[in-house]
Amino acid sequence: MTITAGEIDAARSTDLRREVLRPHWAPGTPMHGDDLADAVHIGAVDGDTVVGACVLQPAPYPHGDEPGAWQLRGMATAEGRRGEGIGAVVLDAAVEAVRARDGQFLWCKAREVAVAFYERNGFTVGSPRYVEPQTGLPHHDMYRRLA
Ligand SMILES: CC(C)(COP(=O)(O)OP(=O)(O)OC[C@H]1O[C@@H](n2cnc3c(N)ncnc32)[C@H](O)[C@@H]1OP(=O)(O)O)[C@@H](O)C(=O)NCCC(=O)NCCS
Repeated sequence: MTITAGEIDAARSTDLRREVLRPHWAPGTPMHGDDLADAVHIGAVDGDTVVGACVLQPAPYPHGDEPGAWQLRGMATAEGRRGEGIGAVVLDAAVEAVRARDGQFLWCKAREVAVAFYERNGFTVGSPRYVEPQTGLPHHDMYRRLA
C-alpha cells in the first residue's frame, strides 16, 4: 500500500465524504466543513485518488471542560478500500494536524459500528449510547487526549 495522508483542500474529499456518509444526498451537496474557515481537512491519497478523509475543527467537548478541544468529523474510507489501515493513517495525520495547532484533546461522535475502530486508535468512549438525530444511527461520543 502506498498511501500518504496529510492536509488537503476540502474540495478534494467532499465527494468521498458524501458518498460514504450521506449516500442519499445528491452529488454536489456540500458536506460539513466544506465552507468552514477554521476547518482542517485530512486526506489519504493513493496516487491521485483520495481514498480516506476526515475533517477537524476547534469545538468544545460536550461532556466537560477540555482545553484545546477539537472535533473530528466526516471520517470515511472509500468502499472497497476498508480494512487496509487507511482509517488509521488518516487518524494519525489528524492527530498530527491538531497537535501542530496546539490542540490537546480530540473528540468525535462515533457511529456504534466504528467504536472498536476508534478504540484501536487510542480513543475512549465518553458518553452513553444515543441516537444521532440527523442519521438516526446509534452513536457514542469518544475522545483521545493528545498531551
Ligand atoms: C470506520 C472507517 C472509517 C474505518 O476505516 P478503515 O480504512 O477501514 O480503517 P482501518 O483499515 O484502519 O481499520 C479497519 C477496522 O475498522 C473496522 N471497520 C468498521 N467498518 C468496517 C468495514 N465496513 N470494513 C472493514 N473494516 C471496518 C474493522 O473493525 C477493522 O478492524 P480490523 O482492523 O480489526 O479488521 C471505515 O470503515 C468507514 O468509512 N466506514 C463507513 C463510514 C463510517 O462509519 N465512518 C465513521 C463515522 S463515525
